[in-house]
Amino acid sequence: MCGIVGYVGYREAYPVLVKGLHRLEYRGYDSAGVALICNDGGLNVYKSKGKVAELERYAETQDVSGTIGIAHTRWATHGEPNDVNAHPHFSESERLAIIHNGIVENYALLKAALIENGYTFKSCTDTEVLVQLIEYVQTTNNCTLLEAVQMALRQVVGAYAIAIIEKGDPDRIIAARKSSPLVVGLGNDEYFLASDATPIVEYTNKVVYINDGEIAVIERHKPLRVVTLDNEESTLDVKKLRMSISQLEKGGYPHFMLKEIFEQPKTIVDCIRGRINVEADNVILSGVIDNRERFLRAKRIIIVACGTSWHAALIGEYLIEEWCRIPVEVEYASEFRYRNPVISPDDIVIAISQSGETADTLAAVELAKSRGAFIFGICNVVGSSIPRATDSGAYIHVGPEIGVASTKAFTGQVTVLTMLALTLARAKGSIEQPLYLQMLGELVRLPDLLEDVLRLNARIEDLSKIFTYTKNFLYLGRGYNYPAALEGALKLKEISYIHAEGYPAAEMKHGPIALIDSEIPVVVIATTDSIYEKTVSNIQEIKARGGKVLAIVTSGDQTVRNIADYVLEVPTVAEPLSPIVSAIPLQLLAYYIAVNKGRDVDQPRNLAKSVTVE
Ligand code: M6R
Repeated sequence: MCGIVGYVGYREAYPVLVKGLHRLEYRGYDSAGVALICNDGGLNVYKSKGKVAELERYAETQDVSGTIGIAHTRWATHGEPNDVNAHPHFSESERLAIIHNGIVENYALLKAALIENGYTFKSCTDTEVLVQLIEYVQTTNNCTLLEAVQMALRQVVGAYAIAIIEKGDPDRIIAARKSSPLVVGLGNDEYFLASDATPIVEYTNKVVYINDGEIAVIERHKPLRVVTLDNEESTLDVKKLRMSISQLEKGGYPHFMLKEIFEQPKTIVDCIRGRINVEADNVILSGVIDNRERFLRAKRIIIVACGTSWHAALIGEYLIEEWCRIPVEVEYASEFRYRNPVISPDDIVIAISQSGETADTLAAVELAKSRGAFIFGICNVVGSSIPRATDSGAYIHVGPEIGVASTKAFTGQVTVLTMLALTLARAKGSIEQPLYLQMLGELVRLPDLLEDVLRLNARIEDLSKIFTYTKNFLYLGRGYNYPAALEGALKLKEISYIHAEGYPAAEMKHGPIALIDSEIPVVVIATTDSIYEKTVSNIQEIKARGGKVLAIVTSGDQTVRNIADYVLEVPTVAEPLSPIVSAIPLQLLAYYIAVNKGRDVDQPRNLAKSVTVE
């Protein structure tokens, strides 16, 4: 959470910084701020509660000149979202300004010590403690800013990506990272700094990802230096970005979420490209094949993830157990990391994360690694922390996902899990050839099927109007579509703020059936599969109690059409791939209900795209 941006070079910094903040706004939008060193060496800080647009309005009347600066968009952790708690924060003498993404866990202790030494605090943030500590260390040791940052950070427990500028030094930004992402863009005689590459890509495609424990010394007209806290020089590993600006824009859609829903036929093509060879009848996920022996030795697979990625993991469990006959456990990363789980070196731990930065998932990876498990990552953001911490992995290649509600990442994750299970099952010899070939064919056909599903758009927009003022929803599914029901409920609650619960349909009668009345719509995924009849019975049970049913059915279905109040028909697809197809009408339904309610679809309240704090 929180997005940070920095610039030093020949351009005016403010427009670059503000554009960068807009790109990073998905990481938090409680407040925004900027610090600039103007041409006479003065250090100006402007900040404001609310979104970046508020900051822009406020800054219209301010002096925003200068070719060096840092900027921040906040997701509040310590202290309510207001102007005072907004970043950047000044040090006591207002000589230093800092921006920070992360959490300083021992901030209370450090703050108390600083207060004893005469420091005063304006905000409730942990970040202000950092900048005061750095100034205190610099003053008492009479050292350079770099040395002060190195000494101060040794006292800090927690996570941080920080950037600091100093009054009277219009040429230098010092930035450091531990467990929060930081990337430096290398332009021609200019540098960019950001939480991810999206603010950088329109200026340069050359970047250096800063590693944990490293400090970047970014100086005008000088080569980039990266050193450790102990002042050892790090070797620069310059990477080339493969991202385009058009991927970061709405492309005519009113919201990123709708654009991303509609991108899914194409993102599935990108996801399977080079991994399915129809002529050779082969699915190859190289991360699995390159570690074939390790995978074949696995006694158990544990999948760790959060949110939508956790729902994809549940589908992964069904796929892997069905085809590979290896026991799979799915864990919330946040629980796994704190409960002393049994992990053996024979285990494979799969970490699923769109952003690759989710703090709990990253910590779960570190824990599993420390106990000798082999770690496989399934991520979207190239170069992010989780893929860099894993032994092997597969990117989902769905392009930047900017809407806070995950859509194309979910279908990409399930597609990669399907390819992983098929690759492993074939390597193990645990899948019959006809079934393998059928699934391979279904994967290839998937983009066309998704085009068909998207034709439901207008019908779903119409239908959504019936539910604008509904207060509660239930989502039901069975088998592979149980996780899809959970995902449908999550989509609705996070962007419309309507309470929604997902359940396995058969669990209804163990409690939730008491909720059924004519006020609560029940969305049932009732596609034609091996447990279709059972699902039909569950629908009957709801109807018998006066419930309203919106059913997702397979094209041509008459049985459910006769009993449900509303139906949405999706194309026929093999059962293991059906959650990918059923997810799309649920995404659209949530989207339109949220739009009808006037919600901020791409940036729902209280949320941020990557949860980089615990
Ligand atoms: O980046 P990750 O996949 O690790 O993120 C995990 C969750 O925070 C994320 O899926 C979240 O639940 C989304 N807002 C769901 O739409």
